[in-house]
This record gives sequence, structure tokens and C-alpha cells, in this order.
Amino acid sequence: MDMESVRSDFPTIRKNLGIYLDSACQSLRPDQVIQAMNDYYENFPACGGRSVHSMATKVSVAVDDARETMASFFGTDDPECYIFTKNTTEGLNTAAYGFGLKKGDVVVTTDSEHNSNHVPWMHLKDCIGIERRFSRSNKEGEFDIESFKSCMDRRVKVVSVQHTNNVTGCSVPVKAVTEIAHDYGATVIIDGAQAAAHRPVNLKDIDADIYCFSSHKMLGPSGMGVMYGKKEVLENLRPLTLGGGTVGLATYDSVTLAPIPDRFEAGLLNYSGIIGTKAALDYLSKIGMDNVKEWDNELMRRILGNLEDVKGLHIVGPDVAEKRSGVFSFNIDGLVSHDIAMMLDSMAGIMIRSGMHCAHPFYVSRAIDGSARASTYIYNSPEEIDIFTDTVRKIAETFGE
Ligand code: ALA
Repeated sequence: MDMESVRSDFPTIRKNLGIYLDSACQSLRPDQVIQAMNDYYENFPACGGRSVHSMATKVSVAVDDARETMASFFGTDDPECYIFTKNTTEGLNTAAYGFGLKKGDVVVTTDSEHNSNHVPWMHLKDCIGIERRFSRSNKEGEFDIESFKSCMDRRVKVVSVQHTNNVTGCSVPVKAVTEIAHDYGATVIIDGAQAAAHRPVNLKDIDADIYCFSSHKMLGPSGMGVMYGKKEVLENLRPLTLGGGTVGLATYDSVTLAPIPDRFEAGLLNYSGIIGTKAALDYLSKIGMDNVKEWDNELMRRILGNLEDVKGLHIVGPDVAEKRSGVFSFNIDGLVSHDIAMMLDSMAGIMIRSGMHCAHPFYVSRAIDGSARASTYIYNSPEEIDIFTDTVRKIAETFGE
């Protein structure tokens, strides 16, 4: 992989605006994505799927193209099953509230979900009395298939798990989980926010019923996400938001829902976001997702090697590069994570995230206040990693306990 040419596509890197290690939150964007979005605003800033004039038709064609690109990127042949959302969270909420779960229905998740795959289920527990069961991970946050199996019985209606964790980087073997869940007749939802950007994902092979991800973690625009669902699953899912664009015909007495995907895409859509998402997937396809994964691993091996002997530094999650999916979470004795983040920024212009990363139950259950988190992507260089690890070492030696 030619890293220098990748780096030169990113305006914030060309302008030397700092070392960006917060890609698990959202990634930087290359020229190709920014230009595709600007092209929409400059040349055909109309709505899709409604008006029939030439600009609007161009938008409708671009939206269809984006869905086809997604289907090919994720290995399926059903472009209409990719629903545009504003983020993974919206997709997961649509799924959680759309199944019409009833009191006593069981939902299984892992014990280390992001709040977006935890809070909606808590709400359904409080409001209608669904039962929650948690598959327990080990101390490092790694998934335990035996614990998962012990959660399963015929009362389980939904299994909803992360593909990759945003703190530890640990991944769930989603294909095996889906197979087991289907044996019990449960529907499977996967939070793919941290996985889709960092590894090849073949949705046909995984066979999950619903898979949600965010475009802004994979070089695409902010506030853009996707909910993929199998056709028969989407046809039985109640949309979260209704209104313009979601109906076939509405009278004073009745409403007929539009076919999928339209019934899930209420109101005017984020057309430049959709077009930017296609450009992002085209960009990633050119690089190849196997190369993306390998680059994350190479940078992580460098981080772990460079920091091996730093006193007072504790890694949250496994110390195996290939298990971390580009996410390095850590603490330094005597320092709170926000202080580490601010020092990295002020000492060397390094941007990381700190705190609990919307994964509160994970931290609370391990009695940790939070952590600093550096997360890499295709545009980070080995030189940037060395500056990061040298600065972490300096912070630990100067300010740590
Ligand atoms: N879930 C995103 C993160 O981990 C926002 O930073």
C-alpha cells in the first residue's frame, strides 16, 4: 500500500493540522469525498425521488448508484435493502423499536456494547418489560462463545451484538453468533460501526438480519449512516419515523406504506451525504479492505512495541495488535484520561479521544473511570505513531505516578 499517496489526498494532512488519532470517532475525509459532495451542491442541488425535472432525476440516479455501490461493497445483491440513516445509532434504534417486542421477550447483547446498542434495550425493558441477557466477556473484553450459548433459549427473540468494540477493538465472531441465534429462531442485529471501516465485511456470508454502520467512520460525511436488512426482515419492521416519501398513498382514513427502502427514509434525505458515502466506498475499494486491515495492524504492532516498557501505562483490552482493530485504549497511573488527551494535544498536536467512549457499562463493570484512546486509519504514518508513543512516554515519565 502506497501510504504517501494516500496521505496526500487528505486536506488536513496536507495543511499539517496535527496528528489525527481519533478515527474511531470519525475519520478524516479525502478530496474525492469532499469534491463529490461539493459537486452535488454546485451542480445538482435538488431532491431525489420526487420531482421529475432534470436536476432531480440526476439526484435520484446518484442515490440509486450509491445503493448499488454499497451492495457490491458488502457482498450482497439487494441494493434496495440499504437504508440511509443519520448514523449507526439511528439504525439500531429503528431495529430495536421496529420489531414490536412484547413483555417477556428476551434480548441478548454482550456486556460491553456501545450505549447505542444498550440504552434502547434498557428503555424497552423499562417501558414494556423485555428481559435482557448479557453474554459475558473476559477481563480483556474478549467475547466468550460459551457464555453466549448459555444465554440462548427459545424465548430469545433478538440477539444484538457489536461486530467490533470501540474501546478494546475486540471483535465478535458474528457469523458463528448468527448461526447459533438462528437455530433458536432469534433475529440478529449487528452494530458494525467500528468494523465496517476496518475490515472486509461480507453481509451475505455473515447472514445477519440487520447490520448498521456509519459513513463518517469510513471516510464519508458526518451524520450519515446505513441500516442494511434482509428484505423479509425489513418488510416486517415498523419504521421509526413516518411522513413524506414513506407512503404509497395516504387518505383521511388509511395509509399504505411505500416499498422498501422508501418506507424507512422519511422526509428529504442528506443527498450530498449519500453521494459522499458512495465516493468514500469507492475510495476504500480502490485501496482494498484487506490492506486497510493490515495497515491498522502494522501501526498497532508499532504502538505496542514502542510502549512495551513504559512504567505505569496500562492497556485496556488485549495487548495483541491483530485483536485491536486500530483502537489503542490506555491509562497512565496518576493521570485522568482527559489530562492525557490535553497534554498530547498541547505538547505535540496529537488528537485522541478520552473518557468512557459511550461504553459506560464496560468501564463501570471493571471499575475504571475511563481511558485515553488513540485510533488509527489508512492515513496515519509510522512517523506519526513514533511521535505519539514518544510523547506518551514523556507524559508517563514526567507526570505519571
Ligand atoms: N462511538 C464513537 C466513538 O467511539 C463516537 O468515538
